[in-house]
Amino acid sequence: MVTIAVTAEGADEPRIAVSPETVKKLTGLGAKVRVEAGAGARSRFSDDALKAAGAEIAATAAETLSGADILLKVRRPSADEIKQLKPAALVGALLDPFDKPGLEPIVATGASLFSMEFVPRITRAQSMDVLSSQANLAGYKAVVDAASAFGQALPMMMTAAGTVPAAKLFIMGVGVAGLQAIATARRLGAIVSATDVRPATKEQVASLGAKFIAVEDEEFKQAQTAAGYAKPMSAEYQAKQAELIASHIKNQDIVITTALIPGRPAPKLVSAAMLASMKPGSVIVDLAAERGGNVEGTVPGETVEVSGVKIVGPLNLAGTVPVNASSLYAKNLLAFLDLFFDKKDKSFNVNWDDEIVRGTLIAKDGKIVHPNLASQPAA
Ligand code: NAI
Repeated sequence: MVTIAVTAEGADEPRIAVSPETVKKLTGLGAKVRVEAGAGARSRFSDDALKAAGAEIAATAAETLSGADILLKVRRPSADEIKQLKPAALVGALLDPFDKPGLEPIVATGASLFSMEFVPRITRAQSMDVLSSQANLAGYKAVVDAASAFGQALPMMMTAAGTVPAAKLFIMGVGVAGLQAIATARRLGAIVSATDVRPATKEQVASLGAKFIAVEDEEFKQAQTAAGYAKPMSAEYQAKQAELIASHIKNQDIVITTALIPGRPAPKLVSAAMLASMKPGSVIVDLAAERGGNVEGTVPGETVEVSGVKIVGPLNLAGTVPVNASSLYAKNLLAFLDLFFDKKDKSFNVNWDDEIVRGTLIAKDGKIVHPNLASQPAA
């Protein structure tokens, strides 16, 4: 029987890697699940609820880890934690794989490291897609936070005392987070527009009832990679894009930016000059803050004011809705581990040739094995 350990996260991470629901299912598959006392508290999963679902509650991290076969975390665990597991144990977490110097000590432990950010975006792996499950919540929360920081209402309201105008909200980057931001802003009654460099987003934006704004030239038509991500755009395209955005953004009340390119710093889309053209009191929520930000002047983890515009640079927005974020993240991990349990004899065997395993495994036996990381120079 395999033992799955789940230890508490650090002070800045309210999420947890299992829920009562997934403990029950993992136990049903034939695993023993050991959770550190209090680890679920910030997601409102009490020790009692986890225990009732079949988990063993251990008093300390050391007791939780001792001799376990698998470690599930939200954030990257330390090498110290991993060394307390069985030799060559499995680790599944958001390992932040492009931060290579930070990765080296845990690679050296010899454990098999699965970076959940790398789950391939194929149909069979949709239920394991942590980027989608978390980005969706982040997109929702960005709009809620923006609405709260904005000193005006979002919907048009016609009252006896007069009419309140609808707010204009602009979403930059229409991936999973951006689409949910559009949907949330529409529910709140804002007038919504959106931009992206991938042509596939044009129809998605329209279907959610928002206006699509983009430079639709030949480069735009080729901007999506086979994996569904954006390519870095040429300097010429960026200049044309900036011109279009500059004329649009000055009339907006709220801007939510979510633009990312895998493994690279976030593209800078909103310049200081654009900020200066906006109305004082406007709000920007920069969801790309963790990766350097889409906005000139974003300070990760802080709210700053530039030219009278509030720029919110949240870190870990999904973590601010921890109950949902943990439930969904835990289910992503459950779907991933489910690949390896034999339903008949309840044994656990990793199929190292599986496309999803090869896609997420970043290190094994002390070596980095993922093609996306092998060519990365140490930063
Ligand atoms: P992401 O988080 O990597 O990027 C967010 C958005 O920023 C993307 O839409 C990207 O095109 C856009 N962007 C990048 N550079 C930009 C620029 N210079 N200007 C404007 N926008 C820019 O993207 P996310 O949310 O991870 O989604 C990427 C794609 O993967 C989407 O097409 C999504 O629908 C697809 N997807 C597929 C899944 C599956 O098939 N299982 C699951 C989830 C997503």
